[in-house]
Amino acid sequence: MARIVKCLKLIIHIVILTLLSYFIKRQEPVKIVKKIERYVPDMKHILLWNKIPGIDEEGQKYFTRNRCEHLNCYFTMNRSLFSDLRYFDALVFNAEDVSRSAKGLPKVRSTIQKYIFASNESAGNFPVCNPMYDDFFNWTWTYKLHSSIPFRYITVYNTNNEELGADLNWKYDMKPITPQFMSSLSSKTLAAAVILDKCTTSSKREYFIHNLQGYLSEYNLTVDIFGPCGTRKCGRTSLKPCFYRIRTNYYFYLAFEDSLADDFITRSVLFAYNNNAVPVVLGAAHYNKFLPPNSYLEASRLGEKLTAKLMYEAIQNKTKYYDFFRWRNHYAMKESKILNACTLCRFLNNESWLRHSSSYKTFREWWNPYFESYCGITKYW
Ligand SMILES: *[C@@H]1O[C@H](CO)[C@@H](O)[C@H](O)[C@H]1NC(C)=O
Ligand SMILES: *[C@@H]1O[C@H](CO)[C@@H](O)[C@H](O)[C@H]1NC(C)=O
Ligand SMILES: *[C@@H]1O[C@H](CO)[C@@H](O)[C@H](O)[C@H]1NC(C)=O
Ligand SMILES: *[C@@H]1O[C@H](CO)[C@@H](O)[C@H](O)[C@H]1NC(C)=O
Ligand SMILES: *[C@@H]1O[C@H](CO)[C@@H](O)[C@H](O)[C@H]1NC(C)=O
Ligand SMILES: *[C@@H]1O[C@H](CO)[C@@H](O)[C@H](O)[C@H]1NC(C)=O
Repeated sequence: MARIVKCLKLIIHIVILTLLSYFIKRQEPVKIVKKIERYVPDMKHILLWNKIPGIDEEGQKYFTRNRCEHLNCYFTMNRSLFSDLRYFDALVFNAEDVSRSAKGLPKVRSTIQKYIFASNESAGNFPVCNPMYDDFFNWTWTYKLHSSIPFRYITVYNTNNEELGADLNWKYDMKPITPQFMSSLSSKTLAAAVILDKCTTSSKREYFIHNLQGYLSEYNLTVDIFGPCGTRKCGRTSLKPCFYRIRTNYYFYLAFEDSLADDFITRSVLFAYNNNAVPVVLGAAHYNKFLPPNSYLEASRLGEKLTAKLMYEAIQNKTKYYDFFRWRNHYAMKESKILNACTLCRFLNNESWLRHSSSYKTFREWWNPYFESYCGITKYW
């Protein structure tokens, strides 16, 4: 009996190995060939391999309409615009499609063409699993600060309306708010609000909120959930009525991300800042790289119990609450235009960037360091 089982195990092993090697062989390698002569020498032709959020126009329209610094870029989704894919200067791939599959990728590729990975979404929700994508992309265009072409969902300005770049050298000694501003906060009576559209998330924010509600109830405080995941309703077609209620009624707003990924902090924190509420943030970003010090509560670090306690204390002690707004005397924060193609065109016009050959050898890990567990990859051999 034992020998039969052993024999069977061996046969299954061999079958699996043969099947595996068959599949590996079937995946044709991409042919890399020299670049061929171009039609228009100074036009950068960009093939959108997939639909890219925010880019809806073919041709140069995007660049002229947005009055970009460089206008010599041309978008198309027509893969047969030229007789050969190698005529394109760049190909842009969307994270969502890349995450979904590695089917139907280009068969030929020029060595001086740029393959660009673009994402407006979190690596936590769209990990890339197929090994095909390691050593595939030359540039990345994402919210990750270490991307080739990085962007931020939120831009910080100083009081002269000058954009502050990546090196946010925060001022820690900030001026207290004015009595006028204090009185604009006086109508608030409720602890916290949150607008949710996704009810189950990979960040498990729904559990955090549930536990936070438990701790807050000990102080007779509540979290009011607006939208389809809660019992409260505000604007059906626009968020404006919701913002009005946050501004007049709520001390805090829960800016909880739907997924945990480094540098991933979306505009939801502006729902708080723009409406004079203090954001309680949950995510995996280093918040100090994005938001002014002492302007928010970092729930991911504090945990449910301490978050509830600090919220209660700030509601009780107005001095404490007002201190959360000191940043307003020194900074302004606004929503950024993400995946801004003017920037893309600027990079495609930079000779040294173009000539510099680069590729993401371990792309899957760069994009999501936990891709193996997200992708269900376990090591058998
Ligand atoms: C990314 O773009 C899609 C499509 O435009 C949009 O539905 C989604 O909300 C965007 N994601 C973020 C995080 O902005
Ligand atoms: C794509 O470009 C080719 C060559 O210019 C043209 O013949 C074809 O009609 C275009 N296809 C679409 C869908 O626009
Ligand atoms: C909460 O409300 C109950 C009943 O109104 C009251 O007995 C209790 O002292 C309150 N607790 C706090 C922390 O305010
Ligand atoms: C309120 O908070 C401020 C600042 O943290 C502190 O100095 C003050 O002692 C507190 N007041 C009370 C009554 O606890
Ligand atoms: C090209 O990019 C490099 C590195 O970002 C920068 O130092 C340089 O000034 C750029 N060149 C031009 C012409 O913009
Ligand atoms: C792009 O990446 C590919 C794959 O690693 C590489 O062969 C090619 O030389 C790179 N090209 C540029 C222009 O960086």
